[in-house]
Amino acid sequence: MAAHMVPLAQPITLKLSGKVIKNRMYRTPLSEYASTYDENNVENCGKPLPRYTELYQELADGGAGLICTGNIPIHRDNLENYNNAVLDINNPWDPVEAFAPAVKAAKSRGAIFLPQLQFPGRQVPEFLNPNPKSSSDQQLEPCLNKSYGKPSPLTKDEINDLIRRYVWASEVLAEAGADGIIVCLLLHEILLFLGGED
Ligand SMILES: Cc1cc2nc3c(=O)[nH]c(=O)nc-3n(C[C@H](O)[C@H](O)[C@H](O)COP(=O)(O)O)c2cc1C
Repeated sequence: MAAHMVPLAQPITLKLSGKVIKNRMYRTPLSEYASTYDENNVENCGKPLPRYTELYQELADGGAGLICTGNIPIHRDNLENYNNAVLDINNPWDPVEAFAPAVKAAKSRGAIFLPQLQFPGRQVPEFLNPNPKSSSDQQLEPCLNKSYGKPSPLTKDEINDLIRRYVWASEVLAEAGADGIIVCLLLHEILLFLGGED
C-alpha cells in the first residue's frame, strides 16, 4: 500500500459501544431512490427493491469501513422524494424482512452500517405534500428545481407521534441487524450506536 494511503487503512474504535470501524472510508448518506412508489396508494410506497440490496453489496465490496443509507422517512406522507425507502409504522408489509437483506449485504465485508432515519419537515417537495409539518411556518424558497409548501408547526401530540415512530423504526433496524442509526430530524443529525452512545 502506498505510504500516503496508510492512514486511510487505520481502524477506529468507538469509545462507548466498542464497535470498530475497520478503516477511514465512509459512504455518506445518499438517497438511493430504489424502493417502490405508487402515487395512488401510500401502502405501496417505500418497500426496498432488489436494487437497494445490490447497491449495498456493491458498497460493501468496495471496502468502506462505515456505510450509511440515504434518508429513510419515518412518515409516509412526508417523503424527501418519491422512491425513498420508508419505515412507517403503518406500512402493511414486514419491515424487518424488507430491510434485512440490505443490512446483511452492507455488513458482509465487515463494515459498520448506519441507516439514516429522517423526518424532512419543510423539505418535503410541494408536489408530494403541499402542507408539510415542520418546527415553524417558515417556507423554503424554491431551489434545485424543487418548490416547497408552506409548513405548519408540529403540535406537541405530533412531536410525541414522531418520537414513537423513530423508536419503532430504530427497533426494526436493530432487529434487521443494523449497528445503529442516524437520527435526521428537521436537518439536524445525531449518530446513535446500538449498545452505546458514540
Ligand atoms: C444526490 C444526493 C443525495 C443525497 N442524499 C442525502 C441523504 O439522503 N441524507 C443526507 O444526510 N445527505 C444526503 N446528501 C448529502 C451528502 O451525504 C453529502 O453530505 C454532500 O453531498 C456533501 O458531500 P460532497 O461535497 O462530497 O458532495 C445527498 C447528496 C446528494 C448529491
